[in-house]
Amino acid sequence: MIRLASPDIRPEDIARAVDVIESGNLIQGSNVKAFEDSLCEFSGLSDCAVVSSGTAALHLALIALGIKSGDVVIVPAFTFPATANVVEAIGADILLCDVSDKSYVMGPKRLEDLIAANKDRNITAVIAVHEFGYPAEIAEISRICCKYGLKLIEDAACALGTTADSHHPGYYSDVACFSFHPRKAITTGEGGALLSHNKNLISQIKILRNHGIDLSNEMIDFIAAGFNYRMSDFQAALAIGQLERFGQELVRREYLAGFYATLLEDCTRISLPKNVPGHSWQSFMTVVDEDVDRNMLIPAMADTGIQVNLGAQALNCLKYYRTKYGLSDTSCPAAARLYHSGLVLPLYGKMQDTDVEKVCSVLQKLLSK
Ligand SMILES: Cc1ncc(COP(=O)(O)O)c(C=O)c1O
Repeated sequence: MIRLASPDIRPEDIARAVDVIESGNLIQGSNVKAFEDSLCEFSGLSDCAVVSSGTAALHLALIALGIKSGDVVIVPAFTFPATANVVEAIGADILLCDVSDKSYVMGPKRLEDLIAANKDRNITAVIAVHEFGYPAEIAEISRICCKYGLKLIEDAACALGTTADSHHPGYYSDVACFSFHPRKAITTGEGGALLSHNKNLISQIKILRNHGIDLSNEMIDFIAAGFNYRMSDFQAALAIGQLERFGQELVRREYLAGFYATLLEDCTRISLPKNVPGHSWQSFMTVVDEDVDRNMLIPAMADTGIQVNLGAQALNCLKYYRTKYGLSDTSCPAAARLYHSGLVLPLYGKMQDTDVEKVCSVLQKLLSK
């Protein structure tokens, strides 16, 4: 089976995790701290908190930034639903911004038009998503958020290693949130992280991830109604080596994405993802023509030993959001089209050139039927 994603976990990574398990220090400890330091060094950001998932990271970011019930948060319509679910979880409302059908992300022009058209609403924050590792125009989005006094969170769940406007996610925003789910380029099983330049914000997030406990004074006290969103120490141990090798992983992913583009450039019934500098290529999502039955293509590819899948969801097409906000496909048409016709092909550093050739030839054969 050529899998959709396959993390580069090596025997030395497993040995490091096993050492921690055998030490008996299973909960958040020195490996979590070492992983946080390595993430700061890798990204150039000064402060980091690792947590139990990307969703936990987004949830804590909203709470620590003071987003609350009654607020409105702008969210791109095409994303994994966790981006919006956390907004709902704190009692705020989402306002959807459609994305570009070429880059799959929210652009600054659409964002500013949406803010201008909703001046009467209590918009307090924007979540920008670097979907599949594509670098959103974050400097301009940040300028717009400053202009309107809005908090800016980057959902960089898929975008560790992305360079957006010359910097790593977390540079232009209040905070960037990452996921280490096995579909991502580095994995801890479940896991997530927040990166920021804002020391106080990350300190507050570290308190919130640990039941609200303040460890800075001799007398330990619970100073907030927090959560248990900690990462286990053996999970962090598993990731440290992966992060050390991540530069090579990014180079290989960029090469494989280019190879796909070369092999598929003459394929008429499919559109290829936009390739720009700084893309970290967590996924390679193509879009099949409207007359192609994408949902039939997924099992047909699986029958030949190739795992493919849809890309992300259009929130305006999902029952919960459709019902609560009275949305439909036409509310955000680009997102709906990407949801119905997006097809993610396998991509990971260990993939061989021959694997890419096989995926492309099987796909071309099925599309020509
Ligand atoms: C854009 C986006 N945001 C948030 C998440 C949630 O991350 P996690 O699965 O680690 O909770 C994901 C996961 O796929 C994602 O793709």
